[in-house]
Amino acid sequence: MSDDKFIIQKSNPLRGEVKISGSKNSVLPIMAAALLTRETCVIRDVPQLSDVYVLETVLRQLNTECSYDDNTLRICAEKTAQNALIDCDLIGQIRASFLVMGALLARFCECKIPLPGGCTIGTRPIDLHLKGFAAMGAVIDCSHGCVYACAKNGLSGARIYLDFPSVGATENIMIAAATADGTTIIENCAEEPEIVDLANFLNSCGANVRGAGTDAIKIKGVPYLHGCDHTIIPDRIEAGTFMIAAAVTRGNILLQNIVPDHLKPITAKLKETGVLIHEEQDGIRVIGENPLNGVDIKTLPYPGFPTDLQAPFMSLLASAQGNSVVTETVFENRFLHVSEFKRMGAQIKIDSRTAIIDGVQALTGAPVRATDLRAGAALILNALAADGQTEISGVRHIDRGYCRIEDKFMKLGARIRRV
Ligand code: EPZ
Repeated sequence: MSDDKFIIQKSNPLRGEVKISGSKNSVLPIMAAALLTRETCVIRDVPQLSDVYVLETVLRQLNTECSYDDNTLRICAEKTAQNALIDCDLIGQIRASFLVMGALLARFCECKIPLPGGCTIGTRPIDLHLKGFAAMGAVIDCSHGCVYACAKNGLSGARIYLDFPSVGATENIMIAAATADGTTIIENCAEEPEIVDLANFLNSCGANVRGAGTDAIKIKGVPYLHGCDHTIIPDRIEAGTFMIAAAVTRGNILLQNIVPDHLKPITAKLKETGVLIHEEQDGIRVIGENPLNGVDIKTLPYPGFPTDLQAPFMSLLASAQGNSVVTETVFENRFLHVSEFKRMGAQIKIDSRTAIIDGVQALTGAPVRATDLRAGAALILNALAADGQTEISGVRHIDRGYCRIEDKFMKLGARIRRV
């Protein structure tokens, strides 16, 4: 429900095992890419998240068949209509719906999409997406809150250099280039694991994508894509969130269904604070029994420290020993959670994109509000370790990126309930 709250008491050390769900930031672009083929795509290990449901609604608005059962999505875009203008407030709800632009442009040579809104963490521009489409021959017109793109003779391959390794722009251009006429090279592109997962999905459909995971991707356009059966990679951000939960509650948690390689930036930083991390047969074990030291983090595009774990990691730093410096280089306004942290007793000073944290003995429970999904997750971590009771409102933000997070935490011994 949209006005749900979490009530959380200080928890004993979390213990047990947690199965990580499929990656939100992988399934969303792959759902958009399924529009490229008229055949059915079966997508497995799809997390039950509100963002997935919203994008499903967008696809249905485009007359695409979507069914979701037992964490498996079946999408058939045989009858997808190009002229169904997507509902403005749906696009505003999740930016990822803008990812359908590359697929619609590739499939119908034209499309009209409402401009995606910004959000609390930044203005979220789409200039790099549009620059890519223009380089491939599309004429772009932004007016009346919509983006209209048209490539009368279809899209052609192009060499594109991204000013910033934007995840969304890399994905949108990859999708548009898969069936373009000729070869597209995207340089200075994003290298996230979700980019590799999208490339693997496209190649399973018969595309020719090489270099995903490096700073240059080559896509040789093919005339036709068929359906496929693809399993989504585990969510490295959800995994990082639970690793930090073990640390802040001095617990001992086994995370299952993870790709250790994708967790390297967070594993390295957690070890620096004194957390013990062991790879085991069926996952990784995180042990937070030692007192934790403050460390400095700087968010960067992958393989740097992920911006999506900046707020959750700050939860650990808020009550670690000593000072820490957090620098957010990816988004211009991603410290909104700091004011909520201060209501719980955190000692943090902000200077533009840098936050200086003076670790306190313990945070104290308070009524706080989630401002975005990762900030919301960070507040849960604070609440698990804080003295007293915490009430978190704005849980709908958390539901966007974590499926039934309270059930997973309760199974580990947390005292959390949704009201
Ligand atoms: C994706 O957003 C993720 N969302 C975000 O996760 C994640 O934080 C972000 O990548 C960075 O890793 C999904 O995958 C659905 P970007 P995206 O384009 O694609 C600037 C979460 O919590 N930029 O890499 O929008 C932009 O302003 C969400 O799960 C341009 O300037 O991120 C930002 O400063 C939050 N022009 C920076 O690049 C553009 O055309 C990174 O944005 C596009 C982006």
